[in-house]
Amino acid sequence: MTTVTLTINGSVVTREVQPRTHLADFLREDMQLTSVHLGCEHGVCGACTVLVDGAPQRTCIDFAAAADGVSIRTIESFDDDPVMAALRRAFSVHHGLQCGYCTPGVLATAYDIVTRLPGADPARIREELAGNLCRCTGYAGMVAAIHEVAANPPSRPADAVRAEPLAFAGVKRASPAAPAAVAARAAPEADSAPYAAPTLPADAAEIALSEILDLPADKAWAVLRDVETVAACLPGATLQAFDAGAGVARGVFAVAIGPMRASFEGAAKVSFDDGERTGRIGGGGEDKSSRTRADGQLDFALNAVDGGRSQLDIALRYNVRGGLAQFSRGAVVAEAAKLLIGEFSGNLAKAAAGEAVDASATAGGIGFALKALSARIRRAFGL
Ligand code: FES
Ligand code: FES
Repeated sequence: MTTVTLTINGSVVTREVQPRTHLADFLREDMQLTSVHLGCEHGVCGACTVLVDGAPQRTCIDFAAAADGVSIRTIESFDDDPVMAALRRAFSVHHGLQCGYCTPGVLATAYDIVTRLPGADPARIREELAGNLCRCTGYAGMVAAIHEVAANPPSRPADAVRAEPLAFAGVKRASPAAPAAVAARAAPEADSAPYAAPTLPADAAEIALSEILDLPADKAWAVLRDVETVAACLPGATLQAFDAGAGVARGVFAVAIGPMRASFEGAAKVSFDDGERTGRIGGGGEDKSSRTRADGQLDFALNAVDGGRSQLDIALRYNVRGGLAQFSRGAVVAEAAKLLIGEFSGNLAKAAAGEAVDASATAGGIGFALKALSARIRRAFGL
């Protein structure tokens, strides 16, 4: 058993939990919060969505033991909240529910939408709501209700304002160079690329990471400069073609986060500034099976550090639309990105030394994702 202390609906709670108990079962069975509904139990349907540190999060794929220190709100806690009251009224007026099974999860997401994106239009609302599935009502009434409230959201009580999102146990915030600083140093993209450059919303998700490479900067840069080698070093990436003149790479990027697996096929433009040792990769791709589109821009900067080594700073901004959209904001994604960069840098060092890159590290994202989850669990238990 593991002892966890967390805040649930404003009350501090300390409980012993089994390592295998997932957060949804803990909330339903131990805390009697039966608004937390279980549909798929695979992170797909969104029925189990609650607010964790102010952000919507699925609870069927998180362990209760990893929730130490977080603050959770289920819809039982929103009786006096003016935003939720407006949403409830609007859902009733616009027929936003029928059987109600999906409704608690939908309302948690709707609350996030109207408070984070006031004035959101129906298209954006549909994107944001893509991670919540409804089997009976359909989505027109939900979108109309959320649109109405988002147009003029009531102000929230001060204690309901999100303070520090995604502070889930086991996920430490990266502390590399600030993303804006890295992006400012990156090479500007040429306009002539024969592909659509990614258009990212102002509130696109952002991950910043730093990795020390066991290579002198000039050697590391020579490897980073070689697109084929970089693609071979990136777990889950398969380069199909690279047009060196246009700087456009086409390929497939396979990822697996928890139970979700996706294979994004698309194109990216790669540009370098050799003087500054910076680069930018911008592009997007689509996973046809889940009808999910991901766009992103990755800026990187390489600097020499002591001991003949170098530091790689990476700033990634991305936006995901479609079936897997809600996954893209989860804490596991940040953990997975850290592991991916770690494996990537290890592969780079091998490539620079003329060694063969481990085929299993580049074959796909599935084993890698399991490592992401197990790393998170190990940290949660202090192992
Ligand atoms: S029950 Fe959690 S996403 Fe379906
Ligand atoms: S209202 Fe029935 S599943 Fe959504």
